[in-house]
Amino acid sequence: MSSNKKMLFLPGDGIGPEVMSQVRHVIEWMDKRRHVSFDVQEDLVGGAAYDKHGTSLADATLDIAQSVDAVLLGAVGGPKWDNVARDARPEAGLLKLRKEMDLFANLRPATVIPALAEASSLKTELVSGLDMMIVRELTAGLYFGQPRGVSINADGIREVVDTQRYTEAEIERVVRVAFDLAGQRNGKLTSVEKANVMESGVLWREIATTVGKDYPDIELEHMYADNCAMQLVREPKQFDVIVTDNLFGDILSDCAAMLTGSLGMLPSASLGAPDSDGRRKAMYEPVHGSAPDIAGEDKANPLATILSYAMTLRYSFDMAEDANYIEQAVQNVLANGLRTGDIMQPGMTLVSCTQMGDAVTKELDKLAA
Ligand code: IPM
Ligand code: MG
Repeated sequence: MSSNKKMLFLPGDGIGPEVMSQVRHVIEWMDKRRHVSFDVQEDLVGGAAYDKHGTSLADATLDIAQSVDAVLLGAVGGPKWDNVARDARPEAGLLKLRKEMDLFANLRPATVIPALAEASSLKTELVSGLDMMIVRELTAGLYFGQPRGVSINADGIREVVDTQRYTEAEIERVVRVAFDLAGQRNGKLTSVEKANVMESGVLWREIATTVGKDYPDIELEHMYADNCAMQLVREPKQFDVIVTDNLFGDILSDCAAMLTGSLGMLPSASLGAPDSDGRRKAMYEPVHGSAPDIAGEDKANPLATILSYAMTLRYSFDMAEDANYIEQAVQNVLANGLRTGDIMQPGMTLVSCTQMGDAVTKELDKLAA
């Protein structure tokens, strides 16, 4: 069957290739049982690309990424490339994809799956039922601001600078994405910055307030980033959607991720601006890293990547029903007691990456029967 659903797979490094191959099985299942097919191309990114091309993202790969409907990325990085120059490092390939594709809105859900509530480092009652979303600005701020770098100052000693830089437009567009999401969820948006200390925080707060006038039904609150970190571990269920800058979003999303019991469970979406047909450039990736210590051992948890594929269906292909199927299959597999090493609990059944992927497609069979 021909298909207009074009995807690029970038498995990357470490456990990336293993977890991505489990998504292939889910796609095969979709092809057979749901009669939707995807044109999937595959290419290198990160250390794998560096080893072959001397750069962590080849221009030809970026061109493909720009032309498809959605990119699914595994993970990048590992100790093997620790001594590579910073602009050629595996992480640089990921940052370049985000920047060149202008994927400014990074959606990082933190959802506690019932069967895993006890795996959280917080008390079960604080996290059970947690369902929140962090919207992280992804293409500006401290990660990209100029000037940056080390120089020798007038006193002859080294000095270093990183720059937090945002235009009004960059703040406004990500804040709007967050308001829209809050409207589809529980109607509450927390805008996070450090307006007590940072100029960028003052402008961020002002713009969030102004945009909020277009969303009278959404409850908008402002919160300092340090307080937000505290509130996340104190009473996380107070949050619905959080919107924040690139650096705070990096930190707070790791914090929120841990509330759910495992980084190995969390998907993410990075979205660009809609074009005239309403289509957005998009890249999906699990929040976890490349876990080089267990790479190649068939021990990795493929669920975050499978759930990232479900997000692809929801946000890029308008296939919410199929996304629900996959999310439900993942929940069922966990409710049946299957666990990879990262989420293993007493009394549960330890399975490999492959076995976990197989279990998901078996559950899909049952759900679709
Ligand atoms: C993330 C990661 C990246 C980031 C690294 C790998 C560059 O921590 O996606 O959160 O800091 O954005
Ligand atoms: Mg991070």
